[in-house]
Amino acid sequence: MPKKNTPLGERRSKVPERQLKTLERVLSKAGLGSRTDARSWIAEGRVRVNGRSVLDPDHWVDLDRDRVTFDGKPLRAAAKIYILLYKPKGYLTTYRDPEGRPTVYDLTSGVGTWLSPVGRLDLDTSGLLVMTNDTDFAERLTNPDHHVPKTYQLKASTVLGDEQIEQLRRGLELSDGPTRPALVKRLRDHPKYTHLEMTITEGRNRQVRRMVEALGSKVLKLVRTAIGPIRIGDLPIGKWRELTKAEVRSLGG
Ligand code: URA
Repeated sequence: MPKKNTPLGERRSKVPERQLKTLERVLSKAGLGSRTDARSWIAEGRVRVNGRSVLDPDHWVDLDRDRVTFDGKPLRAAAKIYILLYKPKGYLTTYRDPEGRPTVYDLTSGVGTWLSPVGRLDLDTSGLLVMTNDTDFAERLTNPDHHVPKTYQLKASTVLGDEQIEQLRRGLELSDGPTRPALVKRLRDHPKYTHLEMTITEGRNRQVRRMVEALGSKVLKLVRTAIGPIRIGDLPIGKWRELTKAEVRSLGG
């Protein structure tokens, strides 16, 4: 058995400036495919490090020194790309769906490189989704400590009173803990429904829906209209555009 390479501790502390990454990560960063794809290519023996086939996806690679090839071709870091997609409802934010439903990848195949969504939108939610091949940026943005505000417009299934709206503003108790305070604006009332704009700084699973359900109501329609300062503008539904450098910087990139 070849000796497992040791990235942490001794090796890392002696050479702190070296860029060590797992083989799986190096592959997915090169923009060729998802991390799941990367793992299976490695298991199939299609990836070599310094000429030797490596079957362990967690093998540590030093990007400055090791030569990684995929199907015999040297791997190059892909140019970083950041896009903004206006996801329609009915599209999944996943790569593959066992039920064959449409996914955000059906809408972004023209980009020409592998991208990961930054966070998720539910199947029934439409609106803005950032996708990128910059995994460090995506991880920073989805880190719970990184409070990028996200704005939603929603239609609630009941008329919500001022006190209920105050509860959303103060933050309320969900099954996974209390929510941070939200910015909430009443947009318009209908005899049966309330339309709200709500800005939250967390990205918990189905958070907006669960917050409204905690008031005894339901979300009938949900659209994410802004991520930080970036708004939908005139982007048509189902289409994407590249983020400008200033927009990437505004999200901490
Ligand atoms: N909150 C939700 O409930 N759903 C989303 O898709 C996004 C935020």
